[in-house]
Amino acid sequence: MKPLAICSFALAALPSLGAPTVNYDEAKVPDAPLPDALSAPGGTFKASNALEWESRVRPKIAEFFESEVYGRRPPRPERETFEIVESSDDALGGKALRRQIKITLGGAKGEKSFIMLLYLPKSPAPAPVFVGLNFMGNHATADDPEIIMPEWVRNTRLGGIQISDNRPTEKYRGLQSRRWPYEKIISKGFGAATIYYCDIYPDLEKADGAPQSVYSIFKEPMNGAIAAWSWGLSRALDALETVPQADAKRAVAVGHSRLGKTALLAAAFDARFAGAVSNDSGCMGAALSRRQFGETVEIITRQFPFWFSPELRKWAGREAEMPADQHQMLALIAPRPLYVASASEDLWADPRGEFLSLAEASKAYALFGAKNVPSEADFGVEKPFAGDVGYHMRRGGHDILEYDWENFCNFFSKALPRAR
Ligand code: GCU
Repeated sequence: MKPLAICSFALAALPSLGAPTVNYDEAKVPDAPLPDALSAPGGTFKASNALEWESRVRPKIAEFFESEVYGRRPPRPERETFEIVESSDDALGGKALRRQIKITLGGAKGEKSFIMLLYLPKSPAPAPVFVGLNFMGNHATADDPEIIMPEWVRNTRLGGIQISDNRPTEKYRGLQSRRWPYEKIISKGFGAATIYYCDIYPDLEKADGAPQSVYSIFKEPMNGAIAAWSWGLSRALDALETVPQADAKRAVAVGHSRLGKTALLAAAFDARFAGAVSNDSGCMGAALSRRQFGETVEIITRQFPFWFSPELRKWAGREAEMPADQHQMLALIAPRPLYVASASEDLWADPRGEFLSLAEASKAYALFGAKNVPSEADFGVEKPFAGDVGYHMRRGGHDILEYDWENFCNFFSKALPRAR
């Protein structure tokens, strides 16, 4: 998609309250200094080693992102059950195992169930697994007739097929398989697990899906769809811990776009994730907010207020005053391996802002001994950087494709700790 098209789509979808201008001109990026990556918000204390970072800086950064940006993730539910409802040792043309696990979560006010689809390589040892949510239902991720469809889907249009009654359709089966190249992932020795994101929190775009979301099982009021989705990834990890052929200690949270924001939050707040991938996550994902390039706090909080804590709105247009920026969100994942991917035409998500953010976050990795971190010269189209953190900018538009996965697999094959 051309930047102009992205821009007009986004603006068309905004309420007509004086459309904010979208900047795609590097020369107009405000000259706002970034908060020091190693300092607590407010700049009162700067960590000079990993211990100080862990004890005196990291908790304050985490607190900022929970209270001011995403909202607090719910606690682990009181009751959780995992039931294998379908299984095959001969999936994907005989190359993989398939498990479909019904996850049921119970809280003070009720229960929620949804299905996690899992493919695993037929390897002698438990396999590391990418764990991510999907946009269109598990059945849309592969042309596999055994994949169970969700009960409710968001009204959407895909491949020329419009859904307007919230009912899933067979016609969507495999329509997003280009985003989930399972055979490639399996051939690289990884498994892949996915859940339909609206099973966790319906993304209704023009209304808040909270009443139908996982939040409805809790007594306490909660908000923030991204926090809920990221919590859903943690529940996927709970399920993975019960599967003997999966190495849950080597699970990597992965996501594209709003679900890339989600993967970052999951890894930042759930230390069990061994790593994370942000693909085109953009504003309130990997991209630096202070740059105000492409999507901004003003735009995202107007269009998707329910994705975030209500507090975020107050920073619209005041990015330069925010006590922390997104490089500090990325730094919360240190020292676990982190991969940020951009796409050259996806200016809405600000590829340069995503790269600079990762480069700045690398200062936290350096506290833990990382030496191979990116510098300005590593920013370029299709020249992947794979050191202690990873980065690439695929040629093309907003999407997650085989090229991206190939590079994620290459990076994590080296960066993940060996199986224990
Ligand atoms: C919109 C939104 C982005 C988001 C994207 C997506 O473009 O503005 O913040 O990342 O949708 O999830 O596809």
